[in-house]
Amino acid sequence: MLEFPVVDRRFKRGLSYLAVFMVLGGFAGASGPPVSPYMANEYSFAKEFADSFLVGVALNEEHTNGQDNRINSLVEKHFNASTAENVMKWEVMQPAEARFDFRASDKFVSYSKNKGLSITGHTLVWHQQTPDWVFVGPDGKPASRQLLLSRMELHIKTVMGRYKGIINSWDVVNEALDEDGALRDSKWRRIIGDDYIAKAFEFATAADPDAELYYNDYNLFKRTKRNGAVRLIRSLLEEGIRVKGIGMQAHYALDYPNDVNEIAASIKAFSSLGLAVAITELDVSVLSFPEGEEAGADIGINLSLSEKLNPYSRGLPANVRKRFEKRYLELFEVFIENHEAISRVTFWGVHDGYSWRNNWPMRGRTDYPLVFDRKGKPKPLLKKLIWLKNKKRR
Ligand code: XIL
Repeated sequence: MLEFPVVDRRFKRGLSYLAVFMVLGGFAGASGPPVSPYMANEYSFAKEFADSFLVGVALNEEHTNGQDNRINSLVEKHFNASTAENVMKWEVMQPAEARFDFRASDKFVSYSKNKGLSITGHTLVWHQQTPDWVFVGPDGKPASRQLLLSRMELHIKTVMGRYKGIINSWDVVNEALDEDGALRDSKWRRIIGDDYIAKAFEFATAADPDAELYYNDYNLFKRTKRNGAVRLIRSLLEEGIRVKGIGMQAHYALDYPNDVNEIAASIKAFSSLGLAVAITELDVSVLSFPEGEEAGADIGINLSLSEKLNPYSRGLPANVRKRFEKRYLELFEVFIENHEAISRVTFWGVHDGYSWRNNWPMRGRTDYPLVFDRKGKPKPLLKKLIWLKNKKRR
């Protein structure tokens, strides 16, 4: 009998159904129902979830240069969508005024295209990983509204224009909200005004009318931030601005958020606006968040290593692995239950060795936040997630 150590009674009940199914002809060959694909050695995570949502992965240059065959086959086999983890951010795309650099993004796009992945461009307007010159005028003072708008327009037009018809979806604006749901006091907002978000979506619509345009942010499970996002996007929609959906970043931990129902509540709230919801940057840290720091995904937090907060550098104890699996199963239960609202679930990194969580919020830790281990091998969790999906979507 297969062992599912962390699963609860409902799973065990499911397993007995499975046994009956197998006996009744699951493995009987051509005449019986098809072999349960999740029982086979060869399976594709993305294909298993094809009836529910796309399964994506964030890729960096070290992957899209195509030199690591293990990574190539892992991406090919288990994913059907990709997001640029870093190479499409402003600092890479346009490091100096009007000097665009497409080398890394072209590689990312052709790599993804060759593998048949649905591609997400990340991200056009953000307060991070954007060079200082963007916000400064010729006199060294803050740029004027007009100047910053024209830079925004040129950037969006050039970057989206290059991949028109190839990149399916874009994170147009990233992290415009504060934790209390008000607009973040970013340079974009300070210089242009509250309508900078509307403008970004308008420029994006003009650049590629067929692309799916998303607003993306972290901590959107929080009631205050959820309400802020609803207010923001509702007002855009009322102005006739085209917004396809909301991206929930999903940088989570074993007990963050405390209650996964909060995630479900946000998915429902966004979907009732007529929007698609994408889980855009999924990872589950097993490490403690340093006290006094606000959990979330503010990449501005950059603490130096404390060995006390890095307890698993030599491996993950079984009890923590169980909590990790339980957490992922809880999350996927929410995603599967809300699959009609969800367009895509994207993991933020190919495997544990590549996760940014090893370096955020603290540099140099050993974290285990993804579903593939440091060797690129699927964790046993992967099959449990598939099993859960098949059980719930029968
Ligand atoms: C992170 C990348 O994963 C890191 O490699 C980089 O150093 C900083 O940015 N929210 C986002 C992502 O929208 O772009 C961030 O990605 C993580 C938080």
